[in-house]
Amino acid sequence: MRAAEIKPNIYWVGAIDWAVRDFHGYITPNGTSYNNYLILDKHVTLFDTVKHDFCDYSLENIRSVVDPAKIENIVINHIENDHMSSIDRVMALAPNALIHITARGKKGLDRFFDTSSWKFRIVKTGDVLSTGSKTVTFLETPMLHWPDSMMSYVREDKLLISQDAFGQHLASSSRFDDDYCDQYSMTALEHAVRDYYANILMPFGALIKNKIAEVQKLGLEISMIAPDHGIIWRKDPAKILNMYLDMANDKADLRVVIVYDTMWHSTEHMTIPLMEGIRAAGVDADVIKLRATPMSKAIKRIWESRAMLVGTPTLNNIMFPSVAEFLTHLRGLRPKNRLVGAFGSFGWGGGAVKEAYAEFKRMGLEAVEPGVEVLYRPSAEDEKACFEFGKQFAEKTIEYHKQFNGEQSGGCKPS
Ligand code: FEO
Repeated sequence: MRAAEIKPNIYWVGAIDWAVRDFHGYITPNGTSYNNYLILDKHVTLFDTVKHDFCDYSLENIRSVVDPAKIENIVINHIENDHMSSIDRVMALAPNALIHITARGKKGLDRFFDTSSWKFRIVKTGDVLSTGSKTVTFLETPMLHWPDSMMSYVREDKLLISQDAFGQHLASSSRFDDDYCDQYSMTALEHAVRDYYANILMPFGALIKNKIAEVQKLGLEISMIAPDHGIIWRKDPAKILNMYLDMANDKADLRVVIVYDTMWHSTEHMTIPLMEGIRAAGVDADVIKLRATPMSKAIKRIWESRAMLVGTPTLNNIMFPSVAEFLTHLRGLRPKNRLVGAFGSFGWGGGAVKEAYAEFKRMGLEAVEPGVEVLYRPSAEDEKACFEFGKQFAEKTIEYHKQFNGEQSGGCKPS
């Protein structure tokens, strides 16, 4: 492999992971890349490393433009394993390099490596590193998405090296947005952005808005955004900033997603009249069976939609395990501004639908109660009740959606 020049004397030296399908539990059908960058200047400077399994690829890329022993500065923007777990190998080749890192980053790095012989400079927002002809300014971004996170801005090139933010889990031979869209499409790229945001950044919307406002206040002109995963935003960096602002403002389409699981198909059967009722109210509907769908895909679809109905059979008086797992995971992502409801079948005493509503309350989501419960198998009357509940739920969704000004229905087609 060879380094790819992204700006004059600034190179992508990362690695493409075509095969990863499970990224710490996040299903990645399109693989990913671990992007790191190198400034070739008077003082050679490396930004981040890559996941340890891919270190040789990155070193080979670095060697295609410079001897790694010449690296004088290493900037660690983020200490999650996929970006810093090969730093020991880089340090073995460039033992005198100075590591620029946040205080929290240093604290974390010390838990992974014996850093006693490494040289550090603890940096904070506004601190600067001169590589010779280029000036790098650091911008701390705590909790976007780890406490240690920061970004690096190269003033002369108007380049923002943004670590995880603005990334996508995409393995591609393309390095840039325009090139990727020529090969695939902007729609495919947008789906990858939303998938990544929903599954990683959903809890941090308020922080994202503040950080983008801070960047605007600092007057940083940006002509390129280079994230640590996926495609580099060269043609239209404003597009990804605007997408992030929309998502941070909880923008969603007027749609109801039905997410369910089933034991003997009764809860599954209920999804049909529910979906028909939603459609009868003029609202788009989507149906996702949990055990047939990667959870990350369900999370993305919920994030794109204004409302969600959760279907769960009762097992041993509580929710079906896959539904409970899903709602626990969703709670951790702290969704906001979504309308919810629940339904399900039971055999004896029931309890699952009640539990689902309790979980909605813990998430602070607005719920339409009561949901629909069916004993054993849905009768024709039960089907009618499901249809009516779906219709009423969709009508309430239309009303609920109106408070989010300037939003359009449609526009997010299933991937
Ligand atoms: Fe790509 Fe937070 O690591």
